[in-house]
Amino acid sequence: MKICVISGSPKGEESITLQYVRFIERAFPDHTFSIVHAGRDIRKMEQDREEWDRALARVRESDGVVFATPVYFMLVPGQLKRFIELAGERDAMPAFSGKYTATLTTSIHFFDHTAHAYLHGISEDFGMNHAGSYSAHMQDLKLEDCQERLILFFSDFIDAIEKKRHIQRVFLPIPQISRAYSPRDGSAAVDTGGKRVVILHDAESGSVQETMVRRLAGMYAGPVTVADIRDSMMRGGCLGCCRCAFDNTCVYNDGFREFWDAHVVPADILIMAGTIRDRYLSATWKQWNDRSFFNGHVPALEGKQVGYIVEGPLAHLPNLREVLVARATIGKAHLAGIVTNESGDPDEIDAALGALASQSVKFSEQHYRSPDTFPEVGGRKIFRDEIWGGMRAFFKADDRYFRSHGLYDFPTKNYPERIGTRLFSLFLDIPGIRKNVEKNMVANMIRPFRETIEKSKVLATRRSKLG
Ligand SMILES: Cc1cc2nc3c(=O)[nH]c(=O)nc-3n(C[C@H](O)[C@H](O)[C@H](O)COP(=O)(O)O)c2cc1C
Repeated sequence: MKICVISGSPKGEESITLQYVRFIERAFPDHTFSIVHAGRDIRKMEQDREEWDRALARVRESDGVVFATPVYFMLVPGQLKRFIELAGERDAMPAFSGKYTATLTTSIHFFDHTAHAYLHGISEDFGMNHAGSYSAHMQDLKLEDCQERLILFFSDFIDAIEKKRHIQRVFLPIPQISRAYSPRDGSAAVDTGGKRVVILHDAESGSVQETMVRRLAGMYAGPVTVADIRDSMMRGGCLGCCRCAFDNTCVYNDGFREFWDAHVVPADILIMAGTIRDRYLSATWKQWNDRSFFNGHVPALEGKQVGYIVEGPLAHLPNLREVLVARATIGKAHLAGIVTNESGDPDEIDAALGALASQSVKFSEQHYRSPDTFPEVGGRKIFRDEIWGGMRAFFKADDRYFRSHGLYDFPTKNYPERIGTRLFSLFLDIPGIRKNVEKNMVANMIRPFRETIEKSKVLATRRSKLG
């Protein structure tokens, strides 16, 4: 079989993910592998049509395509995202259509599932049969268990191609939605009360996104900064070099850092506006997000209200919604709202933008952040364990932050609690006591809350006095 590997890593041959491919290649000498370095060579492919055609020829000649990529910001690197966009722009789908495909990622398992869902959906949009996904931790290759599973995974992929296995589509096609939006005039402006409002966008002139951005900006009575992310003068995508790990300094010396410091850092209310392209926003937004990796794993949006304006069919892309929400909440911001133009009804869109304006200011004044759910709680534990477990040797800036903010919060150091739990556990081994505790289990769970509930009225009164 001829296997074409589309490699998403900007690191080219030195990609960790590619080492997993090399492992498979050695294990299956009867099959031939050709690598398309989408992550490394995307600029060349954009500028040199022959380079693009050569890449596409490899896809066309293959029996199966493997997307092998690192996970970047819960998706794929901006460079691979651009490759996927180019395939759409240059009508390259027939080269992919009908082929079997699989996804192989390396990561620290932080939102690897959303990267997989994205590539799965894209594969189906390209008319391919998605036979499976493999998510490896970036250091798994040394483990025998991983080696064995990789071999089984790839054997299964070959089997799917050989037997022309029937595979059902998982993700619905993305519908076209109405492009028009003409806002009505006269909505009352929301007093920003001195809060700094920043709207970042990548709107094309005359687009719905641009109209929505302008409308929202007009709803805030007070200064609003509206900035195009393309003005951050990025010279390229994140290189994955991790040199920023030591002291949060990126190897690029372009305008990105100044743009971040001028617009993101001072914002109390940060609105990000984008237009759906394939199953994410633009590759420019993806590259912009990747470049913010210089912040490491600290919650870089802490204390902010974040909102989104999305032009396009977001309701059909729950995976994108999950990524957008997590981008805000993992950064410890509060998600003030997401407004789309999906309804096509200008009054409804105006009302939603008005609600976003007023909610963002209200929540900012209240310093409100909604409680964490599974992705934030789980995600931070992954960061904590990874940084503590080894990354802190070179992610020194993260280590300093985690230490100074008490984020190495493993319960292991709480000796009184550990001793108490152990004693209590021994105590419960006494049959009579265990029986009694079991009988009152449910009541005991809520007993500690009684006093707190008594005080709730006092707290609510105090809160309302504070406004
Ligand atoms: C810009 C950037 C963003 C990343 N985002 C994620 C992420 O969202 N989730 C995750 O688990 N790992 C993330 N990682 C870690 C990489 O996925 C991991 O190091 C991967 O193994 C690198 O593979 P490569 O050498 O093939 O590029 C990120 C790394 C970089 C540089």
